[in-house]
Amino acid sequence: MEGQHKAVKNHKNINLWPPAIGIICLWSLFIIVSWIWLTQVIQSGTIETARIEARTVFHNDLIYRQWNANHGGVYVPVSPDTPPNKYLKTKHREIQTPDGITLTKINPAYMTRQVHVLATKNYGYKNHITSLNPIRPQNVPDPWETKALKLFEKGKTEVSSVEIMDKTNYLRLMRPLITGKKCLTCHAKQGYKIGNIRGGISIAIPLSPLTAIERTNIITLSLIYGFLWIIGVAGTLLGLFFLKRQIKKRHQAEEQLREHHKMEGVMEMAGAVCHELNQPLQMILGNSEIILMEMEPDHPLAKQLQNIQKQVERMSRTTRNLIKITNYETKQFPQGKIIDIDKASEGDGTSNNDQTPE
Ligand code: HEC
Repeated sequence: MEGQHKAVKNHKNINLWPPAIGIICLWSLFIIVSWIWLTQVIQSGTIETARIEARTVFHNDLIYRQWNANHGGVYVPVSPDTPPNKYLKTKHREIQTPDGITLTKINPAYMTRQVHVLATKNYGYKNHITSLNPIRPQNVPDPWETKALKLFEKGKTEVSSVEIMDKTNYLRLMRPLITGKKCLTCHAKQGYKIGNIRGGISIAIPLSPLTAIERTNIITLSLIYGFLWIIGVAGTLLGLFFLKRQIKKRHQAEEQLREHHKMEGVMEMAGAVCHELNQPLQMILGNSEIILMEMEPDHPLAKQLQNIQKQVERMSRTTRNLIKITNYETKQFPQGKIIDIDKASEGDGTSNNDQTPE
């Protein structure tokens, strides 16, 4: 009995906090790891978006350049912004319209340079047409472009990376300009052949508009993850609370059942004792009856004997009542059985309470 009680006590003391804290730690780890992972996915998405934008810009350059090259250059009026290109050595570089306007031939690279100025003004791009062997000295590549151009010679078709230019982040992307048939009109004299890499155009996309979107996305993600984390932790704590309550209820039910068993034992014992007592009491009663009958009615001890009889009768009534109670009725309770003594002794009629010895 003692050992059992001890075991129950230990059982009651099971600490549910360590597993709950374990679950919360695992959940936090999962949240942190997947947050980092998704943040990186978003960040690489930003770079990929910039890369796609840069490629589009490059392709647009290619298309109008092709249009220009297909015409072998195009004529535009000379102006302070568009002086004749001294590097373009060709017949009829400048022509006069019938009404005296001077037109100059614009080769693709010159057009590209002018378009790039507009692109910088309108969109903040820093694009540049260049070559390892430039005709125009200002077209020299910067170190990053030199590296890219050398890689193109080795077969690479695109180079891109995030670079800091003028203290801001740019996505730089460069692709080669391959010598085509129409290019040879002007570039054959330098020794270029079809398929040679004539140079390249580097595109630089400012990252700030894209990182602004990235920041909003990461904030949204963080809010969702924070919310998920709170739900997970609250769910675990709530689970812990309900589990504890459940265990407490079960312990209470077990306690009641144990009490009930104890009571049952006591009752059985009391029943047995009463049963055993009843017979000697009946003997005492019978014998005193005989003595009383044999006695003179005015015998000085007759009154005492009657008193004894009364008390014995009272005792046997008590034992009879007790026997009745021990054949108890039980009521079914949710947490187990308990004795319904009221019902057990009800309808008996005899009372235990007539204490008057007279
Ligand atoms: C009408 C003549 C003409 C045609 C056609 C032409 N180019 Fe050029 N290209 C020039 C001149 C002149 C320059 C040098 C000055 C400058 O920047 O305008 C030049 C410059 C370049 C540059 C810049 C590097 C440097 O040498 O200064 C590249 C790259 C280039 N051309 C590629 C091409 C390609 C590719 C084609 C064919 C699609 C082509 N060009 C067609 C005349 C031409």
